[in-house]
Amino acid sequence: MQPPIRLPATAVLARHPVSFSWWPARQLGWRLSWPCPGGNGPTTLRIEEKTGPWDLVSQADRQVEDAVRAVLAQHRPDDRVLGEESGEAAGVSEIQWIVDPIDGTLSYLYGLPDWTVSIAAARVGDGQLLAGVVSAPVLGRVVEASRGGGTWMNGRPVNVRSTAELSHALVGINFGRGETRDKAGRMVDALLPRVRHVRRGGSTAAALAEVAIGAADAAWSPGGQPWDVAAGVLLVQEAGGVVGDLGGRTPGTWPASGDVLAATPGLWEPLHSLLTEVYAG
Ligand code: IPD
Ligand code: CA
Ligand code: CA
Repeated sequence: MQPPIRLPATAVLARHPVSFSWWPARQLGWRLSWPCPGGNGPTTLRIEEKTGPWDLVSQADRQVEDAVRAVLAQHRPDDRVLGEESGEAAGVSEIQWIVDPIDGTLSYLYGLPDWTVSIAAARVGDGQLLAGVVSAPVLGRVVEASRGGGTWMNGRPVNVRSTAELSHALVGINFGRGETRDKAGRMVDALLPRVRHVRRGGSTAAALAEVAIGAADAAWSPGGQPWDVAAGVLLVQEAGGVVGDLGGRTPGTWPASGDVLAATPGLWEPLHSLLTEVYAG
């Protein structure tokens, strides 16, 4: 019998990916970014294209995923694991861990600080989120949540902001892939005149964590995979925010479409209406 998932268990998992990944990740990032500020210096890091030049995977992504899987094998041996780089591992329990070893690989490879390690635990079947952590090693920021236990940043409780007017909203935007990228221009055109401003970072998980900690009022990230969004969604929900997609709210889980709108309770509806117009056309 494994222990139930509680905050201390997530805290352990929150620290382990950072301590396992920090050394190799930091060294490799340093080698990439230091010789030339553009991140164009010599490197021995193996980098491959997955679906195209916009979609890279490096040796560091694989190393971090291996390290996270090793921690899970030790602490939660019965559970299933779904990781971006190594796929699914079977388990006998009804819990699945969903792992994005580096969310924001492009940021990581260019020496930008906003990449994250994103790990969630969800119930198999209905996808109810049980625990989640998004850690940003370069920023020294670990944001974690467990179902019913609230959201915590570096050991302090956090909540979403109380913003309720679109004109006061700072919105993190993401462009997604394929056809959602084609609509990115229209999305920005619709948002910019109505909101306070927009921000574009390199990690969907980081954008969701920013809503949870009050560093943004909302985030819109279309076309994500479960490992991009699962942990961040729980952080927002447990911090008092609302999450869903263009089809509606998805309390307790992430939208199956992979399109994620996360916002303060007062901003979710107006943003939902605005974005529905953009993507309907
Ligand atoms: C990517 C990041 C990025 C988003 C892409 C994702 P990766 O994840 O979340 O913000 O725009 O759609 O694929 O590939 O760096 O793990
Ligand atoms: Ca990702
Ligand atoms: Ca990734």
